[in-house]
Amino acid sequence: MLLGIDIGTSGVKAVLIDTEGRVIASASESYPLLTPKPLWAEQNPEDWWHATCKAIRQILQDSGVAPGAIRGIGLSGQMHGSVFLDADGRVIRPALLWCDQRTADECAWITERVGEQTVLQTTLNPVLTGFQAGKIIWLRRHEPENYARVRHVLLPKDYIRFMLTGEFATEVSDASGTALFEVPKRDWAYTMLDTLELPREWFPRVYESPEITGRVNAAAAQATGLAEGTPVVGGAGDQAAGAVGGGVVEEGIASVAVGTSGVVFAHLNQPRVDAHYRTHTFCHAVPGAWHVMGVMLMAGGALQWYRDTFMPQESFDTALAEAEAVSPSSEGLLFLPYLSGERTPHADPKARGAFVGATLAHGRGHFTRAVLEGVAYGLRDSLEILREMGLSLHQLRLTGGGAKSPLWRQILADVFGQPVHTLQAEEGPAFGVALLAGVGTGVWDSVPEACAQTVRLADSTEPSPTHQPLYEAGYAQYRQLYPALKPFFRLS
Ligand code: XUL
Repeated sequence: MLLGIDIGTSGVKAVLIDTEGRVIASASESYPLLTPKPLWAEQNPEDWWHATCKAIRQILQDSGVAPGAIRGIGLSGQMHGSVFLDADGRVIRPALLWCDQRTADECAWITERVGEQTVLQTTLNPVLTGFQAGKIIWLRRHEPENYARVRHVLLPKDYIRFMLTGEFATEVSDASGTALFEVPKRDWAYTMLDTLELPREWFPRVYESPEITGRVNAAAAQATGLAEGTPVVGGAGDQAAGAVGGGVVEEGIASVAVGTSGVVFAHLNQPRVDAHYRTHTFCHAVPGAWHVMGVMLMAGGALQWYRDTFMPQESFDTALAEAEAVSPSSEGLLFLPYLSGERTPHADPKARGAFVGATLAHGRGHFTRAVLEGVAYGLRDSLEILREMGLSLHQLRLTGGGAKSPLWRQILADVFGQPVHTLQAEEGPAFGVALLAGVGTGVWDSVPEACAQTVRLADSTEPSPTHQPLYEAGYAQYRQLYPALKPFFRLS
């Protein structure tokens, strides 16, 4: 048995699989997202830990599996966040999350201090507001008393590792999203840390994703019901973990993940970057490999916001049925999905959402459909960049909650002009890191072998020849919206 744990933004998910890759049990626990000010997004790391303990206990109870039968544990989680710990390993303040947009000034300062060319050559990415580096500098500038107590800075899932094993450790895929990591060398960017006067010893030891980083200690065994001594492997940031779970571990295959955020992800044998750095190039959870991804901040999150705001009494099924009754391209109604700023392709925390082109003829179903289409256009932006980089993506695999809707799948295939495939195991990142735990504990020899043995396609959706021209025209219009509306966007 192998256990995968994913510390997501809305909750934790734990998945138990057998060594054939079959899902034996899964459990989820939610926790609150704190938004004390506009643009801020925080969570209490203790909430993650308590939810994780509950989910693990639940899984042990439901499956009846003896704790000692679990060979290994893999950890995944929302990337980029900052957990600040004091000398005793206590949490100093709530963690700043990936979707927090408060650090625009700090990111500009880091870029200037280090030098833009050095940043790009070292980390292969610009310093973006979501990434961890700006959050640390924000703490130094705005909460100096808290900053003075910091002795360790961890990524979200690595806090759970610390609670499980007592080890301060991370792995290459998640560390890549700190803006403090030398992505080509797969190690911390020590010179940048020195330039920014960030103590090197605050940052955890780096492993490759399948490597064992520690073992469940007595206190964690007590809290979770796991067996003391169970190995915990590096795991991966949720995107790389989801890619492993979807078998995106060789060039030519890409995944499109429609969760809260929306991500187009492709494997790379060598580090490669977009000429304009609109996509992220990070280390993959496959040792010796990298990946490139375009990230939309709000994909499923946009639909969730729309439903909660405009039709709170209705189910998603009702919303989707209304959208299905509307013709493709929503009779000219367009939606710009930048509800909390955007990363790919604009890297602009000031970007905002919009509905454009409404008439008296548009009803609620049009608005819902426009949201689905706007997200698809946003994902196409990322896909176009990957295509421009010369990647030939012969297979697109669709994952995340959005993949469950046949309507959204059809819209995505139509907008991409390419078939999209779904997977049999829908457990995503938690499944991916359970596979990594299997690699680290000798069940499989390599990550690609683990995927070959366990990842199966479910069905495929072909683009419709009649819809495609409508969506080509819609996409051309969509691309004009951001530059046209930019003068109206400001940070507030
Ligand atoms: C990836 C990203 C999000 C978070 C939350 O760069 O920011 O996918 O990991 O899921």
